[in-house]
Amino acid sequence: MIPTHIHIKPLERSFFQKLPYKNIAVLTDENTYQSCYPHLKPLLGSHWVVQIYSGEMYKNLKTCEYIWQQLTDFHFDRKSLLINLGGGVIGDMGGFVAATFKRGIDFMNIPTTLLAQVDASVGGKLGIDFQGYKNHIGIFAEPKYVWIDTFFLQTLPLAQFKSGFAEVVKHCLVSDKKMFEELGIVLPKLAAATSAEELYNLLNWNQLVQHSVAIKSKVVEEDPKEKGLRKILNFGHTVGHAIESYLLLHSKPILHGEAVAIGMICEAWLSWQKGLLEKADYQQIKGFLLHFFGHKDLPVTKFEEISKLAQQDKKNENQQIQACLLQGIGQPVFGQEITRQEIVASLEAYQVK
Ligand SMILES: NC(=O)c1ccc[n+]([C@@H]2O[C@H](COP(=O)([O-])OP(=O)(O)OC[C@H]3O[C@@H](n4cnc5c(N)ncnc54)[C@H](O)[C@@H]3O)[C@@H](O)[C@H]2O)c1
Ligand SMILES: [Zn+2]
Repeated sequence: MIPTHIHIKPLERSFFQKLPYKNIAVLTDENTYQSCYPHLKPLLGSHWVVQIYSGEMYKNLKTCEYIWQQLTDFHFDRKSLLINLGGGVIGDMGGFVAATFKRGIDFMNIPTTLLAQVDASVGGKLGIDFQGYKNHIGIFAEPKYVWIDTFFLQTLPLAQFKSGFAEVVKHCLVSDKKMFEELGIVLPKLAAATSAEELYNLLNWNQLVQHSVAIKSKVVEEDPKEKGLRKILNFGHTVGHAIESYLLLHSKPILHGEAVAIGMICEAWLSWQKGLLEKADYQQIKGFLLHFFGHKDLPVTKFEEISKLAQQDKKNENQQIQACLLQGIGQPVFGQEITRQEIVASLEAYQVK
């Protein structure tokens, strides 16, 4: 079930006209100001715009200060609304700013990347990076409204669009084998798309986003603070995050979804090696992800270092590396201990194609 504050359909003028706020501001970055704001602007009455620089490197306290300053200048109070128009950076940071401004004002998220629509839009995790630590400062708070309009996906850089698709596939792998197989039928066309517009026209994204949001909402509702079940959403992320962090530290950044796709291949391999997953299922998962994302050459001599980063993951307990593995497609099992040697072996298996 999708929570009632989340709307997944084209933006509606009547909704915005009825908003009970005296003061409204829209937070954008330079890209969403150019590509998304023109679509929202005519639906709103008088409002302010706050524009920040795009990118993870600006998801920090300094940018928060700037936004808090702007809201102060606009005389924002408890009867004001901040609308966060953008990807996960804008949503996480704008939500954090709103939820802490004068002990909390209402905010609305309008996620404009696929990743933000299917992942960051649900679950109430808000925050910023601090001294190199990702999402180090933050809180849980729910937006008053979330409005997901897949129209926005058309202007995304293709690589960003594809990266977000990794989370869609993850949701299928941890809870819907049938949908994974349905996506497999259109996979060759999806993989061959050369522009965001082309990719957009190949699928009913509205339906697919609804599917992902419904899965994540159900999991988060059962386990909001990630004590157990919510860990299934980390499938692919134990190894994926380590790869992402390693490449970032060495100035060769990779998109989150691309790293998670490799992570899902490695963790599916580990699931097979541990006798949890059938070999055919592993091959199907690997084949799907390699077809869509292609193969990336990883630094073979650095797998030890990558595995070390997996050990430092804040989601581990007592130095043990905990991962979510698969017992079948759509059948996750969380809290599985894996060793650094096993991670290295899984990366080696990925590397040989
Ligand atoms: N809160 C959560 O549960 C959660 C979940 C997953 C990720 N996140 C966070 O989300 C962030 C990543 O989000 P992201 O991948 O959306 O990155 P992002 O917000 O940096 O957006 C990616 C790029 O796309 C541009 N962009 C956004 N929408 C556009 C559009 N419609 N047209 C053209 N350009 C557009 C942005 O300006 C940016 O350059 C990370 O900081 C991560 O920690 C949070
Ligand atoms: Zn992710």
